[in-house]
Amino acid sequence: MINRERLAKHIEELSQFGMQSSGGINRFSFTEEEAKANEYIEKLMEEAGLSVSFDAVGNVIGERQGTEEKAPIMIGSHIDTVPHGGKFDGALGVLAAIEVAQSLKDQGIQLKSPLKIVSFKDEEGTRFGFGLLGSRAMTGILKEEELEGRDDQGITLKEAMTQNGYDPEKIGEAKVREVAAYLELHIEQGKVLESENVPVGIVTGIAGPSWKEITVRGLSEHAGATPMPIRQDALVAASEMILNIEQIAFKYKDAVATVGKLQVKPNGVNVIPGEVTFSLDVRDLDNERCAKIVNEISEMIQEVSQKRNVESEIVELQTVSSVQADAAMQATIKEAVVSKGIKPISLVSGAGHDAMNLARICPMGMIFVRSKDGISHNPLEYSSIDDCEIATNVLFDTLVRLDQSI
Ligand code: GLV
Ligand code: MN
Ligand code: MN
Repeated sequence: MINRERLAKHIEELSQFGMQSSGGINRFSFTEEEAKANEYIEKLMEEAGLSVSFDAVGNVIGERQGTEEKAPIMIGSHIDTVPHGGKFDGALGVLAAIEVAQSLKDQGIQLKSPLKIVSFKDEEGTRFGFGLLGSRAMTGILKEEELEGRDDQGITLKEAMTQNGYDPEKIGEAKVREVAAYLELHIEQGKVLESENVPVGIVTGIAGPSWKEITVRGLSEHAGATPMPIRQDALVAASEMILNIEQIAFKYKDAVATVGKLQVKPNGVNVIPGEVTFSLDVRDLDNERCAKIVNEISEMIQEVSQKRNVESEIVELQTVSSVQADAAMQATIKEAVVSKGIKPISLVSGAGHDAMNLARICPMGMIFVRSKDGISHNPLEYSSIDDCEIATNVLFDTLVRLDQSI
Protein backbone atom coordinates (compact mmCIF):
# COMPACT_ATOMS: atom_id res chain seq x y z
CA MET A 1 0.00 0.00 0.00
CA ILE A 2 1.21 3.48 -0.82
CA ASN A 3 1.06 6.61 1.34
CA ARG A 4 -1.77 8.84 0.20
CA GLU A 5 -0.81 11.96 2.17
CA ARG A 6 2.77 11.86 0.95
CA LEU A 7 1.61 11.51 -2.67
CA ALA A 8 -0.81 14.44 -2.27
CA LYS A 9 1.96 16.58 -0.76
CA HIS A 10 4.33 15.78 -3.62
CA ILE A 11 1.69 16.63 -6.27
CA GLU A 12 1.18 20.00 -4.61
CA GLU A 13 4.91 20.71 -4.16
CA LEU A 14 5.87 19.80 -7.73
CA SER A 15 3.08 21.99 -9.11
CA GLN A 16 4.79 25.08 -7.63
CA PHE A 17 7.70 24.88 -10.11
CA GLY A 18 6.64 27.09 -13.02
CA MET A 19 3.31 28.02 -11.40
CA GLN A 20 1.89 31.24 -12.89
CA SER A 21 -0.26 33.73 -11.00
CA SER A 22 -3.15 32.63 -13.23
CA GLY A 23 -2.93 29.09 -11.82
CA GLY A 24 -1.46 27.51 -14.96
CA ILE A 25 1.98 25.89 -14.99
CA ASN A 26 4.74 26.69 -17.51
CA ARG A 27 7.50 24.12 -17.17
CA PHE A 28 9.30 23.72 -20.46
CA SER A 29 12.42 21.81 -21.39
CA PHE A 30 15.84 23.27 -20.63
CA THR A 31 14.45 26.16 -18.58
CA GLU A 32 15.19 27.24 -15.03
CA GLU A 33 11.75 26.10 -13.82
CA GLU A 34 12.37 22.64 -15.22
CA ALA A 35 15.88 22.47 -13.74
CA LYS A 36 14.51 23.30 -10.27
CA ALA A 37 11.71 20.75 -10.67
CA ASN A 38 14.31 18.16 -11.69
CA GLU A 39 16.31 18.90 -8.53
CA TYR A 40 13.12 18.28 -6.54
CA ILE A 41 12.52 14.98 -8.36
CA GLU A 42 16.14 13.99 -7.73
CA LYS A 43 15.66 14.64 -4.00
CA LEU A 44 12.45 12.55 -3.87
CA MET A 45 14.14 9.73 -5.76
CA GLU A 46 17.09 9.74 -3.36
CA GLU A 47 14.75 9.67 -0.36
CA ALA A 48 13.06 6.66 -1.97
CA GLY A 49 16.42 4.86 -1.98
CA LEU A 50 17.03 5.23 -5.72
CA SER A 51 20.43 6.04 -7.18
CA VAL A 52 19.88 8.99 -9.47
CA SER A 53 21.53 9.92 -12.75
CA PHE A 54 20.81 12.24 -15.66
CA ASP A 55 21.40 10.67 -19.08
CA ALA A 56 22.76 12.28 -22.27
CA VAL A 57 19.51 14.20 -23.03
CA GLY A 58 18.52 14.98 -19.45
CA ASN A 59 16.15 12.13 -18.59
CA VAL A 60 16.18 11.78 -14.80
CA ILE A 61 16.68 8.12 -13.90
CA GLY A 62 16.30 6.58 -10.44
CA GLU A 63 17.52 3.01 -10.10
CA ARG A 64 16.94 0.28 -7.53
CA GLN A 65 18.72 -3.03 -7.58
CA GLY A 66 16.93 -6.35 -7.83
CA THR A 67 17.91 -9.58 -6.11
CA GLU A 68 18.58 -11.16 -9.51
CA GLU A 69 20.65 -10.12 -12.52
CA LYS A 70 17.90 -9.26 -14.97
CA ALA A 71 16.76 -6.59 -17.39
CA PRO A 72 15.05 -3.83 -15.40
CA ILE A 73 11.35 -3.07 -15.22
CA MET A 74 10.90 0.60 -16.11
CA ILE A 75 8.18 2.98 -14.89
CA GLY A 76 8.06 6.51 -16.29
CA SER A 77 6.27 9.65 -17.33
CA HIS A 78 7.21 13.34 -17.68
CA ILE A 79 7.17 16.58 -15.69
CA ASP A 80 7.24 19.15 -18.52
CA THR A 81 3.97 20.90 -19.33
CA VAL A 82 2.05 22.48 -22.17
CA PRO A 83 1.72 26.30 -21.98
CA HIS A 84 -0.52 27.08 -19.02
CA GLY A 85 -0.75 23.40 -18.13
CA GLY A 86 -2.17 21.52 -15.15
CA LYS A 87 -0.77 19.70 -12.12
CA PHE A 88 -1.36 16.11 -13.20
CA ASP A 89 -0.43 15.51 -16.85
CA GLY A 90 2.83 13.54 -16.61
CA ALA A 91 3.65 14.81 -13.11
CA LEU A 92 1.28 12.30 -11.50
CA GLY A 93 2.95 9.41 -13.33
CA VAL A 94 6.44 10.39 -12.16
CA LEU A 95 5.33 11.03 -8.57
CA ALA A 96 3.27 7.81 -8.44
CA ALA A 97 6.30 5.81 -9.62
CA ILE A 98 8.50 7.44 -6.95
CA GLU A 99 5.78 6.78 -4.36
CA VAL A 100 5.82 3.10 -5.33
CA ALA A 101 9.62 2.98 -4.88
CA GLN A 102 9.35 4.80 -1.52
CA SER A 103 6.65 2.34 -0.38
CA LEU A 104 8.76 -0.66 -1.41
CA LYS A 105 11.60 0.81 0.66
CA ASP A 106 9.35 1.60 3.66
CA GLN A 107 7.97 -1.93 3.64
CA GLY A 108 11.35 -3.59 3.06
CA ILE A 109 10.13 -5.29 -0.12
CA GLN A 110 12.83 -6.64 -2.40
CA LEU A 111 12.03 -7.25 -6.06
CA LYS A 112 13.78 -9.84 -8.20
CA SER A 113 14.06 -7.40 -11.09
CA PRO A 114 15.97 -4.13 -10.98
CA LEU A 115 13.66 -1.10 -11.19
CA LYS A 116 14.25 2.07 -13.20
CA ILE A 117 12.05 5.11 -12.65
CA VAL A 118 12.32 7.70 -15.39
CA SER A 119 11.20 11.31 -15.62
CA PHE A 120 11.41 11.76 -19.39
CA LYS A 121 12.77 14.92 -20.99
CA ASP A 122 10.36 17.07 -23.01
CA GLU A 123 7.36 14.85 -23.65
CA GLU A 124 5.05 17.69 -24.63
CA GLY A 125 7.26 19.35 -27.25
CA THR A 126 5.99 22.75 -26.12
CA ARG A 127 9.14 24.78 -26.51
CA PHE A 128 10.65 23.34 -29.70
CA GLY A 129 7.63 21.75 -31.42
CA PHE A 130 9.23 18.34 -31.10
CA GLY A 131 8.03 16.13 -28.29
CA LEU A 132 8.91 12.77 -26.71
CA LEU A 133 12.57 13.83 -26.74
CA GLY A 134 13.68 11.69 -23.80
CA SER A 135 11.91 8.51 -24.85
CA ARG A 136 13.12 8.88 -28.44
CA ALA A 137 16.69 9.15 -27.19
CA MET A 138 16.28 6.25 -24.79
CA THR A 139 14.91 3.99 -27.52
CA GLY A 140 17.65 5.01 -29.97
CA ILE A 141 15.51 6.73 -32.60
CA LEU A 142 16.52 10.34 -31.95
CA LYS A 143 18.84 11.81 -34.58
CA GLU A 144 21.08 14.83 -34.15
CA GLU A 145 19.59 16.50 -37.23
CA GLU A 146 16.19 16.45 -35.52
CA LEU A 147 17.42 18.95 -32.92
CA GLU A 148 17.09 22.00 -35.18
CA GLY A 149 13.58 23.03 -34.02
CA ARG A 150 13.47 26.60 -32.66
CA ASP A 151 11.63 28.12 -29.73
CA ASP A 152 9.79 31.45 -29.99
CA GLN A 153 13.08 33.29 -29.30
CA GLY A 154 14.83 31.53 -32.20
CA ILE A 155 16.97 29.29 -29.95
CA THR A 156 17.37 25.78 -31.39
CA LEU A 157 16.91 22.66 -29.30
CA LYS A 158 20.56 21.91 -30.02
CA GLU A 159 21.64 25.30 -28.66
CA ALA A 160 19.46 24.88 -25.57
CA MET A 161 21.05 21.50 -24.92
CA THR A 162 24.54 22.95 -25.25
CA GLN A 163 23.69 25.90 -22.98
CA ASN A 164 22.55 23.38 -20.36
CA GLY A 165 25.71 21.31 -20.52
CA TYR A 166 24.50 18.56 -22.85
CA ASP A 167 26.43 17.54 -25.96
CA PRO A 168 24.04 17.03 -28.93
CA GLU A 169 26.64 14.76 -30.54
CA LYS A 170 26.33 12.36 -27.61
CA ILE A 171 22.55 11.75 -27.66
CA GLY A 172 23.27 8.17 -28.75
CA GLU A 173 24.57 7.49 -25.24
CA ALA A 174 21.02 7.78 -23.84
CA LYS A 175 19.99 4.58 -25.61
CA VAL A 176 19.17 1.81 -23.15
CA ARG A 177 20.25 -1.76 -23.77
CA GLU A 178 17.45 -3.86 -22.38
CA VAL A 179 14.14 -3.22 -20.67
CA ALA A 180 11.99 -6.13 -19.48
CA ALA A 181 8.74 -4.16 -19.40
CA TYR A 182 7.57 -0.54 -19.36
CA LEU A 183 4.70 0.75 -17.23
CA GLU A 184 3.22 4.25 -17.17
CA LEU A 185 0.50 5.72 -15.00
CA HIS A 186 -1.15 8.81 -16.50
CA ILE A 187 -4.35 10.80 -16.21
CA GLU A 188 -6.90 9.78 -18.83
CA GLN A 189 -7.46 13.28 -20.29
CA GLY A 190 -10.86 12.08 -21.53
CA LYS A 191 -14.28 11.19 -20.12
CA VAL A 192 -14.49 7.40 -20.51
CA LEU A 193 -13.61 6.47 -16.91
CA GLU A 194 -15.85 9.18 -15.51
CA SER A 195 -18.79 7.94 -17.56
CA GLU A 196 -18.05 4.35 -16.45
CA ASN A 197 -17.81 5.56 -12.86
CA VAL A 198 -14.44 3.89 -12.20
CA PRO A 199 -11.22 5.46 -10.84
CA VAL A 200 -8.77 3.64 -13.13
CA GLY A 201 -8.61 2.02 -16.54
CA ILE A 202 -6.41 -0.25 -18.66
CA VAL A 203 -5.02 1.24 -21.87
CA THR A 204 -5.27 -0.92 -25.00
CA GLY A 205 -3.46 1.37 -27.46
CA ILE A 206 -2.26 4.92 -28.12
CA ALA A 207 -3.04 7.09 -31.16
CA GLY A 208 0.21 8.67 -32.39
CA PRO A 209 0.27 12.32 -33.41
CA SER A 210 1.36 13.67 -36.79
CA TRP A 211 2.59 17.26 -36.43
CA LYS A 212 3.27 19.75 -39.23
CA GLU A 213 4.06 23.44 -39.43
CA ILE A 214 2.43 25.34 -42.28
CA THR A 215 3.66 28.72 -43.47
CA VAL A 216 1.45 30.76 -45.79
CA ARG A 217 3.14 33.66 -47.61
CA GLY A 218 1.09 36.44 -49.19
CA LEU A 219 1.82 40.15 -49.43
CA SER A 220 1.85 42.73 -46.61
CA GLU A 221 0.22 45.90 -47.89
CA HIS A 222 -1.68 48.91 -46.65
CA ALA A 223 -5.04 47.94 -45.17
CA GLY A 224 -6.65 51.14 -46.38
CA ALA A 225 -5.09 51.51 -49.80
CA THR A 226 -5.28 47.97 -51.20
CA PRO A 227 -8.60 47.05 -52.88
CA MET A 228 -10.16 43.74 -51.85
CA PRO A 229 -9.89 41.92 -55.21
CA ILE A 230 -6.09 42.26 -55.50
CA ARG A 231 -5.06 41.30 -51.98
CA GLN A 232 -2.84 38.35 -51.12
CA ASP A 233 -3.95 38.09 -47.51
CA ALA A 234 -2.10 35.22 -45.80
CA LEU A 235 -4.40 35.21 -42.78
CA VAL A 236 -7.60 34.94 -44.82
CA ALA A 237 -6.02 32.06 -46.79
CA ALA A 238 -4.90 30.36 -43.55
CA SER A 239 -8.39 30.82 -42.09
CA GLU A 240 -9.96 29.02 -45.05
CA MET A 241 -7.40 26.23 -44.66
CA ILE A 242 -8.12 25.89 -40.94
CA LEU A 243 -11.88 25.63 -41.50
CA ASN A 244 -11.26 23.03 -44.21
CA ILE A 245 -9.02 21.04 -41.83
CA GLU A 246 -11.93 20.83 -39.41
CA GLN A 247 -14.24 19.63 -42.19
CA ILE A 248 -11.76 16.98 -43.37
CA ALA A 249 -11.33 15.60 -39.83
CA PHE A 250 -15.11 15.43 -39.39
CA LYS A 251 -15.33 13.04 -42.36
CA TYR A 252 -13.31 10.38 -40.52
CA LYS A 253 -14.94 8.85 -37.47
CA ASP A 254 -12.65 9.05 -34.38
CA ALA A 255 -9.97 11.07 -36.21
CA VAL A 256 -9.02 14.46 -34.75
CA ALA A 257 -7.20 17.43 -36.26
CA THR A 258 -6.19 20.58 -34.40
CA VAL A 259 -4.61 23.91 -35.25
CA GLY A 260 -3.35 25.07 -31.87
CA LYS A 261 -0.70 27.64 -32.72
CA LEU A 262 -0.90 30.65 -35.01
CA GLN A 263 1.59 33.41 -35.77
CA VAL A 264 0.65 36.41 -37.87
CA LYS A 265 3.24 38.73 -39.43
CA PRO A 266 3.61 41.63 -39.21
CA ASN A 267 0.62 41.57 -36.81
CA GLY A 268 -0.49 45.19 -37.27
CA VAL A 269 -4.03 46.58 -37.23
CA ASN A 270 -3.61 48.45 -40.52
CA VAL A 271 -1.40 45.96 -42.37
CA ILE A 272 -2.66 43.07 -44.52
CA PRO A 273 -1.09 39.93 -43.03
CA GLY A 274 1.84 38.93 -45.24
CA GLU A 275 2.83 35.71 -43.54
CA VAL A 276 1.04 33.25 -41.28
CA THR A 277 2.46 30.17 -39.63
CA PHE A 278 0.19 27.63 -38.02
CA SER A 279 0.59 24.19 -36.47
CA LEU A 280 -1.30 21.03 -37.38
CA ASP A 281 -1.85 18.02 -35.11
CA VAL A 282 -3.64 15.01 -36.68
CA ARG A 283 -4.39 11.77 -34.81
CA ASP A 284 -6.03 8.47 -35.68
CA LEU A 285 -5.39 5.05 -34.14
CA ASP A 286 -5.17 3.69 -37.70
CA ASN A 287 -1.76 4.79 -39.03
CA GLU A 288 -2.77 4.48 -42.70
CA ARG A 289 -5.89 6.55 -42.21
CA CYS A 290 -3.85 9.18 -40.34
CA ALA A 291 -1.47 9.42 -43.32
CA LYS A 292 -4.46 9.65 -45.70
CA ILE A 293 -5.96 12.54 -43.71
CA VAL A 294 -2.63 14.40 -43.66
CA ASN A 295 -2.37 13.89 -47.42
CA GLU A 296 -5.86 15.23 -47.99
CA ILE A 297 -5.07 18.28 -45.87
CA SER A 298 -1.82 18.89 -47.81
CA GLU A 299 -3.69 18.81 -51.14
CA MET A 300 -6.35 21.15 -49.80
CA ILE A 301 -3.66 23.61 -48.64
CA GLN A 302 -2.17 23.70 -52.15
CA GLU A 303 -5.63 24.27 -53.71
CA VAL A 304 -6.48 27.13 -51.35
CA SER A 305 -3.03 28.66 -51.95
CA GLN A 306 -3.56 28.66 -55.72
CA LYS A 307 -7.04 30.08 -55.44
CA ARG A 308 -5.90 32.89 -53.12
CA ASN A 309 -2.61 33.61 -54.85
CA VAL A 310 -0.39 32.82 -51.86
CA GLU A 311 2.51 30.39 -51.40
CA SER A 312 2.39 27.64 -48.79
CA GLU A 313 5.05 25.45 -47.29
CA ILE A 314 4.40 22.40 -45.13
CA VAL A 315 7.21 21.30 -42.80
CA GLU A 316 7.18 17.96 -40.98
CA LEU A 317 7.64 18.31 -37.20
CA GLN A 318 7.02 14.75 -36.07
CA THR A 319 4.98 11.66 -36.91
CA VAL A 320 4.63 8.97 -34.29
CA SER A 321 2.99 5.66 -35.16
CA SER A 322 0.04 4.44 -33.12
CA VAL A 323 0.82 1.46 -30.91
CA GLN A 324 -0.98 -1.34 -29.06
CA ALA A 325 -0.33 -2.09 -25.40
CA ASP A 326 1.09 -5.56 -24.75
CA ALA A 327 -1.68 -8.13 -24.18
CA ALA A 328 0.07 -9.80 -21.20
CA MET A 329 0.74 -6.41 -19.59
CA GLN A 330 -2.93 -5.49 -20.02
CA ALA A 331 -3.86 -8.78 -18.35
CA THR A 332 -1.52 -8.10 -15.41
CA ILE A 333 -2.91 -4.60 -14.90
CA LYS A 334 -6.42 -6.05 -15.11
CA GLU A 335 -5.60 -8.56 -12.34
CA ALA A 336 -4.34 -5.70 -10.17
CA VAL A 337 -7.49 -3.65 -10.87
CA VAL A 338 -9.83 -6.56 -10.15
CA SER A 339 -7.92 -7.39 -6.93
CA LYS A 340 -8.96 -3.94 -5.64
CA GLY A 341 -12.62 -4.75 -6.32
CA ILE A 342 -12.76 -2.35 -9.28
CA LYS A 343 -14.59 -3.09 -12.54
CA PRO A 344 -11.88 -3.43 -15.24
CA ILE A 345 -12.45 -0.95 -18.05
CA SER A 346 -10.23 -0.97 -21.13
CA LEU A 347 -9.82 2.15 -23.23
CA VAL A 348 -7.77 3.73 -26.00
CA SER A 349 -5.54 6.76 -25.38
CA GLY A 350 -6.18 9.67 -27.70
CA ALA A 351 -3.26 11.55 -26.13
CA GLY A 352 0.34 10.65 -26.88
CA HIS A 353 2.77 9.30 -24.27
CA ASP A 354 6.42 8.27 -23.93
CA ALA A 355 4.99 4.74 -23.71
CA MET A 356 4.55 4.90 -27.53
CA ASN A 357 8.31 4.86 -27.94
CA LEU A 358 9.03 2.34 -25.20
CA ALA A 359 6.56 -0.03 -26.89
CA ARG A 360 9.11 -0.30 -29.72
CA ILE A 361 11.65 -2.01 -27.49
CA CYS A 362 9.67 -3.89 -24.79
CA PRO A 363 6.19 -4.93 -23.63
CA MET A 364 4.28 -1.76 -22.65
CA GLY A 365 1.31 -1.23 -20.35
CA MET A 366 -0.48 1.92 -19.17
CA ILE A 367 -2.79 2.63 -16.26
CA PHE A 368 -5.18 5.56 -16.66
CA VAL A 369 -6.59 7.64 -13.81
CA ARG A 370 -10.04 9.24 -14.06
CA SER A 371 -9.89 12.92 -15.11
CA LYS A 372 -12.57 15.27 -13.78
CA ASP A 373 -14.79 16.33 -16.70
CA GLY A 374 -12.12 14.84 -19.00
CA ILE A 375 -10.27 18.16 -18.91
CA SER A 376 -6.50 18.40 -19.39
CA HIS A 377 -3.86 20.67 -20.92
CA ASN A 378 -5.63 23.22 -18.78
CA PRO A 379 -5.10 24.42 -15.19
CA LEU A 380 -8.52 22.92 -14.37
CA GLU A 381 -7.13 19.43 -14.97
CA TYR A 382 -7.93 17.40 -11.84
CA SER A 383 -7.90 13.85 -10.51
CA SER A 384 -9.05 13.36 -6.92
CA ILE A 385 -6.51 12.14 -4.37
CA ASP A 386 -8.80 9.12 -3.84
CA ASP A 387 -8.37 8.20 -7.50
CA CYS A 388 -4.65 8.97 -7.49
CA GLU A 389 -4.20 6.76 -4.44
CA ILE A 390 -6.14 3.85 -5.96
CA ALA A 391 -4.24 4.14 -9.25
CA THR A 392 -0.86 4.27 -7.48
CA ASN A 393 -1.81 1.16 -5.52
CA VAL A 394 -2.74 -0.50 -8.83
CA LEU A 395 0.68 0.52 -10.15
CA PHE A 396 2.36 -0.94 -7.05
CA ASP A 397 0.39 -4.17 -7.35
CA THR A 398 1.04 -4.45 -11.10
CA LEU A 399 4.77 -4.03 -10.52
CA VAL A 400 4.86 -6.76 -7.88
CA ARG A 401 2.85 -9.11 -10.17
CA LEU A 402 5.13 -8.36 -13.11
CA ASP A 403 8.18 -9.02 -10.99
CA GLN A 404 6.80 -12.48 -10.20
CA SER A 405 6.02 -13.31 -13.81
CA ILE A 406 9.12 -12.15 -15.69
C1 GLV B 1 0.77 15.04 -25.25
O1 GLV B 1 0.10 15.42 -24.31
C2 GLV B 1 0.14 14.93 -26.54
O2 GLV B 1 -0.63 13.96 -26.73
O3 GLV B 1 0.32 15.84 -27.36
MN1 MN C 1 0.14 16.39 -22.23
MN1 MN D 1 1.34 13.57 -20.58
